[in-house]
Amino acid sequence: MPVHIPTLIEKKRDGGSLEPSEIAELVAGYSRGGVPDYQMAAFAMAVFFRGMSDVETSAMTASMRDSGHVFRWPGGSPPKVDKHSTGGIGDKVSLILAPLLACDGLWVPMVSGRGLGITGGTLDKLESIPGFNVRLDASACLRQIEKIGVFMAGQTDGFCPADRKLYALRDVTATVPSRPLIIASIMSKKLAESLDRLVLDVKFGAGAFMKSRDDAALLAAGLAAVGEANGVRTSCVLTPMDEPLGRAVGNALEVREAVESLQGRGPDDLVALTLDLACAVSNSPRDVHARRLADGSAWRKFLEIVEAQGGDARTLERPPAAAPVVVTLPSPRDGVVKSLDAGAIGVAAVRLGAGRNTAADSINPSVGFSEIKKSGERIAKGEPILVIHAASEADAAAAARRVRCEVG
Ligand code: URA
Repeated sequence: MPVHIPTLIEKKRDGGSLEPSEIAELVAGYSRGGVPDYQMAAFAMAVFFRGMSDVETSAMTASMRDSGHVFRWPGGSPPKVDKHSTGGIGDKVSLILAPLLACDGLWVPMVSGRGLGITGGTLDKLESIPGFNVRLDASACLRQIEKIGVFMAGQTDGFCPADRKLYALRDVTATVPSRPLIIASIMSKKLAESLDRLVLDVKFGAGAFMKSRDDAALLAAGLAAVGEANGVRTSCVLTPMDEPLGRAVGNALEVREAVESLQGRGPDDLVALTLDLACAVSNSPRDVHARRLADGSAWRKFLEIVEAQGGDARTLERPPAAAPVVVTLPSPRDGVVKSLDAGAIGVAAVRLGAGRNTAADSINPSVGFSEIKKSGERIAKGEPILVIHAASEADAAAAARRVRCEVG
């Protein structure tokens, strides 16, 4: 007998636990259109207040995964690995890590997202490479991974449609910050990749979704539990996001920094995190991965990805097209950089046009920040704290007012 949706919402509203079969029917009904948005919104709000047990969260995740295409890999193929980051400012790790892991003989079926709020998205960065196609269907993904061991694609219509629909609903019903719903959303997409190993980079701090380390640790434990329960060896790193990762923020500027890192010239913090994540899902030691960055192997693999996905690799060899206005923000005094607020940089980057205010907005690939100073570095009066890349003088001036940097 089909479940009576109002009864199910009532049960969650009153603090009860739902059976996995009830959750499966709810999610399947919602993705088919049989359960309307208003009932799903009421359910999401009930979950927001009452939470979900581990069993319920696992069932929600599996039902969302099964709402669309689940990758099935050929028998005997290499281990499938991926990472997920909860999102930060200047986080271009995926662009470096995906080719690096493919160099290790692993398969990397990387399905990524677009920028969300102040955090950038891998797809937007990749699309700043002229011609790069992130819209691969399942058979193109399979062909590419069999050929070069990696693809970097976006979520197609048939991939976790329940998550796509529910995420949009949560976004407008104040139910995004619910731990079980976040876990189900993230892990349904990762489980649909049918991975053997996954590493999660859960960020905390001013530029992250989770403000405190404790909240990040709770989220990490919940994500890992669902991964392990579904047969995916899942590890987590908790990383601070109080200042931007690396020295560049903004799509083409971040691709440039990723290219430098792939050529062995990356900033220390970005390279160190990439190597930590590579070690978590591979069998090779750190020095092997570091050598593949230094000797050009990872760079050559990145070029293979760009070429396989229609991008113009020649554009990567030269500096990205400059934004109309490029100005420096000078330090007001001699001293040491005490802090550079990642959240403020993220907001300023979105306002420059590097991110979106609504899902329908288009982004400007050339704007953002470069040569960003890091905390602890010495700076002289008048020396640039960072370089602003903007579409107009007015945008550059507004960005300069938004940057919060403490020099002591
Ligand atoms: N990222 C996701 O994919 N889903 C969430 O719910 C939050 C962050």
